[in-house]
Amino acid sequence: MNIAVLPLLVVAAALSVSLTGGGAEARKVTKLESTSASTDVVYNAISCRAHSASVTDFGAVGDGQTSNTKAFQDAVKQLSRFASDGGVQLYVPAGKWLTGSFSLTSHFTLYLHRDAVLLASQDMNEWPVLKPLPSYGRGRDAAAGRYQSLIFGTNLADVVVTGNNGTIDGQGAFWWQKFHGGKLKYTRPYLVEFMYSDTIQISNLTLLNSPSWNVHPVYSSNVLVQGITILAPVKSPNTDGINPDSCTNVKIEDCYIVSGDDCVAVKSGWDEYGISYGMPTQQLIIRRLTCISPYSATIALGSEMSGGIRDVRAEDITAINTESGIRIKTAVGRGAYVKDIYVKRMVMHTMKWAFKMDGDYKSHPDSHYDPNALPVIQNINYRDMVAENVSVAARFNGISGDPFSGICIANVTLGMAAKSKKYPWTCTDVQGMTSGVSPRPCEALPDQGPEKINACDFPEESLPIDELEVKQCTYRMD
Ligand SMILES: *[C@@H]1O[C@H](CO)[C@@H](O)[C@H](O)[C@H]1NC(C)=O
Ligand SMILES: *[C@@H]1O[C@H](CO)[C@@H](O)[C@H](O)[C@H]1NC(C)=O
Ligand SMILES: *[C@@H]1O[C@H](CO)[C@@H](O)[C@H](O)[C@H]1NC(C)=O
Ligand SMILES: *[C@@H]1O[C@H](CO)[C@@H](O)[C@H](O)[C@H]1NC(C)=O
Repeated sequence: MNIAVLPLLVVAAALSVSLTGGGAEARKVTKLESTSASTDVVYNAISCRAHSASVTDFGAVGDGQTSNTKAFQDAVKQLSRFASDGGVQLYVPAGKWLTGSFSLTSHFTLYLHRDAVLLASQDMNEWPVLKPLPSYGRGRDAAAGRYQSLIFGTNLADVVVTGNNGTIDGQGAFWWQKFHGGKLKYTRPYLVEFMYSDTIQISNLTLLNSPSWNVHPVYSSNVLVQGITILAPVKSPNTDGINPDSCTNVKIEDCYIVSGDDCVAVKSGWDEYGISYGMPTQQLIIRRLTCISPYSATIALGSEMSGGIRDVRAEDITAINTESGIRIKTAVGRGAYVKDIYVKRMVMHTMKWAFKMDGDYKSHPDSHYDPNALPVIQNINYRDMVAENVSVAARFNGISGDPFSGICIANVTLGMAAKSKKYPWTCTDVQGMTSGVSPRPCEALPDQGPEKINACDFPEESLPIDELEVKQCTYRMD
């Protein structure tokens, strides 16, 4: 196909656009939205694109009935030629766009209009099957392969999936039923997955009813997840929110998650497969997260952590009616480490456990795990937190002969529920200290007095992901 016949709208993308031509202030593109025609699309992204096309140019029909899998696949295929020519945006207008899985390409933006809904197909033929992840050895639902995620990418650079709060609806009930009925041949698909990719932005979208995990960056770096609303029934199976997995330099900001599993689950592979793959999750920032998950954790570290998890910084976290606050899950056989974890300014309402650490989270890919592979859990810092209506302050179970060490908790006030236990802390095989913590912690975490109120670390220096620049992009749509 010749480029000339491609149905492209050429756009003005840039910071320098000036519509009003007034003084210095008028040169700011923020003025654009209020002074220009409503057909302009303006948003923030890591890259603006030189070209744009609509999915309707490739035959897509937004009636909620017609399958658009081929239209999305064709669009990406044909537009991929612009990767080396300033990049391209694929625009999805208002409508209900039924589709199976499709893959993105590099230097590419997928933009959903605020009234656009991507509806995940329930035709199994529209879901290609991939091999299990090498760091897991097998699928989570079934040993064989796994269905490719609805929006997928591998070996990509510079990709944006965004929208003015447009929706991706996984229509998960279909998959949850199959899961509960033991009818799955392969592991359920996720909504958005990037593998082996660099510089990815996923922002300003609503994700509904995922078949399983919602957002899964794996073996990737420089990942920005911003302004995502994730909604799934609180009893839906494995509907984790955002799962950075063997990734470096990730930022998750301003997300609101209601789900049936952990709101954020930090991972890095499973037992002997994760150990031999050896790829940690590190340099992770989580800011301004609101989580509602009555049967799971606000932020879980593990249980698959066999490539290691280090340097996680979480701040300004709100948990409401959630089972646990920060939870470390590991087991004999996992190996590796969870270390240098920093959490501050967390507010919790109605929790079963404010804090939890499980050294016996026994779920193994197979019986070949190494019983001598003991995880190292070290330098875990929690500070400046308040909670109300907490049933159990903390349940810390380390591993016998492999204590979890360097636990530091300071300036934390937990308001206990009327029915809570008299001794709301249980601690076995853990070591560390506390200061200014109420109710009074277990003996293993002795109070070091008020002068140690600032003893729990939170690093001052920024991480490289905070330096990633976001530009304002403007597209003139016809
Ligand atoms: C997402 O939307 C919010 C509010 O509408 C806006 O402030 C923010 O810049 C947007 N983020 C991105 C990455 O576009
Ligand atoms: C996005 O849409 C969801 C679902 O309708 C809504 O709950 C959320 O508040 C919206 N977010 C923004 C920033 O408008
Ligand atoms: C406190 O938590 C219990 C569950 O443990 C819940 O039933 C109750 O409604 C909560 N109370 C308030 C005031 O939120
Ligand atoms: C303790 O934490 C609260 C927030 O929960 C914060 O406002 C206060 O400044 C902290 N105190 C110290 C001494 O850091």
